[in-house]
Amino acid sequence: MISNRCLGTEQSEIRKIFNMATENSINLGIGEPDFDTPKNIVEAAKTALLNGKTHYSPNAGILELTNAISEKLKKDNNLDVPRNNIITTCGASEALMLSLFTLVNKNEEVLIPDPGFVSYKGLTELSEGKVIPVNLDDKFKIDLESLKNNISKKTKCIILNSPSNPTGSVITKEEIKGVCEIAGDNNITVISDEIYEKIIYGKKHYSAMEFTDNSIVINGFSKAYSMTGWRIGYLAVNENFDKKYNLIENMMKIHQYGFACATSFAQYGAFEALTGDQKSVFEMVLEFEKRRNLIYTGLKDIFNVQKPEGAFYIFPDVSEYGNGMEVATKLIKNNILCVPGSAFGKQGENRVRFSYATKYEDIEKAIEIMKNVLL
Ligand SMILES: Cc1ncc(COP(=O)(O)O)c(C=O)c1O
Repeated sequence: MISNRCLGTEQSEIRKIFNMATENSINLGIGEPDFDTPKNIVEAAKTALLNGKTHYSPNAGILELTNAISEKLKKDNNLDVPRNNIITTCGASEALMLSLFTLVNKNEEVLIPDPGFVSYKGLTELSEGKVIPVNLDDKFKIDLESLKNNISKKTKCIILNSPSNPTGSVITKEEIKGVCEIAGDNNITVISDEIYEKIIYGKKHYSAMEFTDNSIVINGFSKAYSMTGWRIGYLAVNENFDKKYNLIENMMKIHQYGFACATSFAQYGAFEALTGDQKSVFEMVLEFEKRRNLIYTGLKDIFNVQKPEGAFYIFPDVSEYGNGMEVATKLIKNNILCVPGSAFGKQGENRVRFSYATKYEDIEKAIEIMKNVLL
């Protein structure tokens, strides 16, 4: 009855773990900011609703928003992407789906970071492609030699994610340049997931599109503007790349038939997010940085841990106390919700992901509990 596409795809481990949570659990598991969406954004969407912006929008999104995204890409990332090369999507999730479904044929290979965000594997499997993990080293860096060794005639694309979920690492200019050069030499498309771009601590974010034409930028509003439930994201295709292969036209087939458009009134909120006051982003990132410092200082007394440079995750090696699943299970039983690293790939087996998108006091409590339970 069920298609091979679905049968060949595993459900995320994360849900199973969350089912073990109790009412008293401290949630260091969830991957979303705990802040409300800033008021100016909510007001813009409310006004849109009251003004009858409740109908289908153009497939690629309202003109104002795709224009604003094009300007944002110029201002923040020094990229020239015309409005017509941008599609507004139902979250970065849809943007990832459009990219993979448009590019990948059955059994073609997709290089994904291991450890990496769960959807990369799931969406590659749903597109009937083959996942080829690119193992990150202990410092969460891509080894360019082993990347080259993983390339075959069937390699179609590579997914990059900086700042990273689950590692919190930020790719350097040299690293991203190196990966893009290898991709360019082998006609591999770089799908660059930049959703945590704004949540970065004292480092500079580089977009892959600065270094290769064969690239698609994925971004969205969920994380930087605390808008996870709004379901608004976007993708931008390099202009030369699109001219050569008509990516946007082909992506639009999936977007049109599958989604029609992103929610119209939410798009007005997203427009306000990009063009309005950025103070709330600044304040949120400052708060995340405080929490990052707190959780890093606490965890380094317990585990072998790398200091995160972006996003809101920390990904310690817990092997002193068991594998990632054993330690996560023990912590969850003691009311600390967290995710075993194996959910993000084989390289994560001895790790646990903690999200610090939760109250400062709860992080303090969680560290105390961990010290009592493990030390
Ligand atoms: C790395 C990464 N990419 C994409 C997404 C999906 O974001 P959206 O809510 O925009 O679909 C997430 C959400 O957790 C993520 O962590």
